[in-house]
Amino acid sequence: MSAARPQAMKLADYRQPDFLIPALFLDFELHDTQTRVTAVSKVRRQGTHSHPLILDGEKLQLVSVEINGETVSAQATEKGLCLENVPDEFELRIVTHIDPLNNTSLEGLYKSGSAFCTQCEAEGFRKITYFMDRPDVMAKYQVKITADRQTYPYLLSNGNKIGQGELPDGKHWVLWEDPFFKPCYLFALVAGDFDLLEDSFTTASGRQVALELFVDKGNLGRAGHAMASLKKAMLWDEQRYGLEYDLDIYMIVAVDFFNMGAMENKGLNVFNSKFVLADPASATDEDYFNIESVIAHEYFHNWTGNRVTCRDWFQLSLKEGLTVFRDQQFSADMADPAIVRIKQVQVMREHQFAEDAGPMVHPIRPAEVMEMNNFYSVTVYDKGAEVIRMLHTLLGETGFRQGMDLYIARHDGQAVTCDDFVQAMQDANGIDLTLFRRWYSQSGTPRVEVETLYDDKRQQFALTLRQHTPATADQQDKLPLHMPVAIELIDETGSQQHILSLTESSQRFELACKGEPTLAVLAGFSAPVKVDFAQDSQELLKTALYGQDDFLRWDAAQQLLSESIHASVTDANSSLPEAVLALFSGTLDVAAEKPALAAEMLALPSFETLAQQKPHIHVDSLLAARHSVKMQLAEAFAGQWKSLIKVAPDQSYAYQREQVQLRRLKAVCLTYLAELPDSEAILQQGYQHSDNMSDTLAILRACQSANHRLFEPLMQDFEQRWGQDSLVMDKWFALHGSRQHPNSLASLQLLTGHAMYSINNPNKVRALIGSFAFYNTAGFHAADGSGYRFVTDYLMKLDAVNPQVASRLITPMLGFSHLDSTRQDLIVQQLARLLNHEPLSRDLYEKVSKALHLATSTDKALN
Ligand code: TRP
Ligand code: ZN
Repeated sequence: MSAARPQAMKLADYRQPDFLIPALFLDFELHDTQTRVTAVSKVRRQGTHSHPLILDGEKLQLVSVEINGETVSAQATEKGLCLENVPDEFELRIVTHIDPLNNTSLEGLYKSGSAFCTQCEAEGFRKITYFMDRPDVMAKYQVKITADRQTYPYLLSNGNKIGQGELPDGKHWVLWEDPFFKPCYLFALVAGDFDLLEDSFTTASGRQVALELFVDKGNLGRAGHAMASLKKAMLWDEQRYGLEYDLDIYMIVAVDFFNMGAMENKGLNVFNSKFVLADPASATDEDYFNIESVIAHEYFHNWTGNRVTCRDWFQLSLKEGLTVFRDQQFSADMADPAIVRIKQVQVMREHQFAEDAGPMVHPIRPAEVMEMNNFYSVTVYDKGAEVIRMLHTLLGETGFRQGMDLYIARHDGQAVTCDDFVQAMQDANGIDLTLFRRWYSQSGTPRVEVETLYDDKRQQFALTLRQHTPATADQQDKLPLHMPVAIELIDETGSQQHILSLTESSQRFELACKGEPTLAVLAGFSAPVKVDFAQDSQELLKTALYGQDDFLRWDAAQQLLSESIHASVTDANSSLPEAVLALFSGTLDVAAEKPALAAEMLALPSFETLAQQKPHIHVDSLLAARHSVKMQLAEAFAGQWKSLIKVAPDQSYAYQREQVQLRRLKAVCLTYLAELPDSEAILQQGYQHSDNMSDTLAILRACQSANHRLFEPLMQDFEQRWGQDSLVMDKWFALHGSRQHPNSLASLQLLTGHAMYSINNPNKVRALIGSFAFYNTAGFHAADGSGYRFVTDYLMKLDAVNPQVASRLITPMLGFSHLDSTRQDLIVQQLARLLNHEPLSRDLYEKVSKALHLATSTDKALN
C-alpha cells in the first residue's frame, strides 16, 4: 500500500461518459475456475472528442479484443483497458476468463455453495468483463448461459427467457433478453439446482406476472412468507404510488453467501437467505418482519432505482433513501406503525448519530469517495430516508405523491441526480426547496434547543427553537437547515398537535393555549436531530403516561430511564427516582391493553444509545449503572414480571399482530425476571414448552443478558437441536459473541473453529465477530485492549478474504472519540497496526486512514 495510496473521487469532477453502449450481448460458458465470458458491445462516441475508450476491469484474464471483427492488440492494466483511436461507432468483442470458485469477495461472479451467482452493485461488473462500469451507461442486454445440465438445471438472468437448447456433451443453454435499458450494476446471473416456489400476480391493469422463488433444496417449506410478502408489496405499490410491475416474470433467488441483505437486479433479485427463509420453529417475529420489509425494499427499487436510476454513485441516496422511506411506509401499514417508527429511530440514534460523530461522517450525498462500497451507510440509507420523510411531512401525502408522479414521469428511463428529485418535488408543489437542499450537502447531527414561556394573561404559549450543527470531521462550517418540528401540547383538557417549519438559526413561535401546557417535541421523530430541552421528570412522566403520540410517549419514557442511568453513573448508590417508579407502575397497569407500546416503554435504552447521549463516557461505569438500574427495576416490579409473562397468545404460532405484541411484551418482562434469584424454574419451563423460535430466543437472550446459570445448558441443548441448521446456528453464534462474560474472548476463539463456522460466510462472521465488536461492550472495550486486538487480528485475516465485510466490521473501532483517553490510545495503536498491514484493501484503507487522521487532529486540538 505504501507505494500507490488509493485516491478519492470527487462529485465535483463528474463528466458525462465519452462513449455510450446502447446494446450488450453476454455469453457465459460456466466453469468453476475458468468461466469464459464473451461480451459484444455496440459502442458509440458521445460528443466530439478524440479520447480513447477506457474500460474498467479487475481480476480478469484477457483472451482477445476485436473491433468490428478485427483483432486488436490491447494491454490490460490492474484497473482496465484503454483502446486508442477507436471509430465513432463500432462493435466491440471482448473475451475474458474469470475464476468464480476462488472469488471470496462475493463481488462479480462467484459460487455460493454449489450455485453460481453474481453481485454487481456498486462496481462489481468490472470483475466480470471489461466495461464502462458506471450507472449512466445504460444498455439493452441479451445474455446466453451455457452449463452442465445436471448440476445447473436452472440458468437465470434478467428479463424474459427467449430461447433454450440442449448440447451433446450434457450441457444446455438458455438465452435471456431484458427489454429495459439498464446500468450494468443491475445485471444478474444465477445458475444452480433449487427448489422452486411458483405463484402469480395480476397487476391493476390486468397483466399476469409469474412469480418464482428459488431456494436451496429442502427449503420449500420456509419460502411461503417471502412469497406472500412479495404479493403484498406489489399490491401496496400500486395502491399507494400507482406503480405497477413491468415484466412478465419476477424471480427471487436465496443464497447463503451474500455480502448484504439483498439486491434489486432487474427481474432477478438475489437475496441473502436470511431475508427469505422462515417458519415458526426456526424464525423469530423479527425475522418475519425483516423478510417482509427487505422483500418490499427490493421490489420497490424496480421503480425507484431501476426504471429511474442514479447518474453516478454520489447520488446513491436518490434510490436508497427513497426506497428505504417507501419500505418504511409499507412496514408501517403492515405492522404496528408506532413500533416500526421506534425501531427506525433506534437505528438512527444508535448507529447513524455514531457515524456522524466518527471519521466516516458524510452528507447523504457524499462529495468524496475512495471506495464506493463504504458508502452503503446508515447515513445514505437511513438518514437519507429521514430526509425524504421530512419532505413528505412538509408537503403532505398528496403533495408528496404529486412530486413522485412528476419525478417518475419526467425521468423514467434516465440516470439522474438527487437534485432532479428535489426539483420534481418543488415543481409539483410550487414551493421553494432551496434551503431544504442543504440536507444533501451538509453532514452531521443538528442540535435543536428548545426554550418555552407561557403568558398567563394572554393565554399564549411561546417557544423558541434554535438550531446549530456542530462541526464534523469532514466539514467545519454549517448552515441552518429547513426542518419540520412536530410538537404536542398536553394540558388538562387533552392535547394539540402542530408542525412548525424551522428555517432560521433561531425562531420564535406562539400558540394559543388555555393553561400552561406540557410540551413534547419531535413527534414521530419529525427531523433527524438531537433535541436539547431541559424538562423536569414530572413533565416527562406526564408525556409518557398521557401523551397522544405513541412515539413521544416512548421517547419521554426513554429520556426518564436514560437520565436515571446517567445519574447513577455519578452516584453509584442512587436509588431509582420516583418518576421512574411511577412510569413503570403506570405503564404496567395498561400493559395488557397496549402491549406493544408498553414493551418498548419498559425496555432499557441500549448501551449504544446511552453512549450517544454524552460527549464522553466511561464504559465500565455506564455499564454498571445500566445494570444497577435494571436490577432495581427487576426487584421493584418482581410480581408484575411474573404475572405478565403469562399473558401469552393462546393459539399456536402465527406471525400476526396481536400475537407479536404479546410475545414482545413477554420478552421484555423476561429480561427483568431473569435477574431475580428465583427465576430458574420459570425460564427452564419457558424454554421447554416453547413451540416457536421467538419465545425460545427470548428466554436465551434473557439468560444471556442476566448471566444466568441456565444459559450454558440451554445453549448446549439448542446446539443439539439446531446444530445442522445454518441460519438458526447464526442466532446461536450471535448469542455467544455478544455475551458479556469474563471468558468471552476465549470462547470466541474456540467458536471460530466450530464445524458450522466459516470466515468465508459473511452471515457467520457478522453473527459471531460482528456481535462481539458491536454489542459485547464489556468484551470489546476490555480495559487491557484485548478486545480491540482480537478484532484487529481478525480484520487482517478477513480483509484478504472479503474486504467489504471487513470494512463493515471495523465500524465499532471508529467510535473512539467519546471514550476515555486510555481506550482511545489502545484503539489508535491497533488502527496504526492495521494501516501498516500489507496488503490492505481500499475499503479498509479509507476508514483506517481517516480514523487515524481524526485521532491525531483531535489530539492536537486538545493539546
Ligand atoms: N442495492 C442493495 C439494496 O439496497 C444493496 C446491496 C446489495 C449492495 N448487495 C450489495 C451494496 C453489495 C453494495 C455491495 O437493496
Ligand atoms: Zn436498496
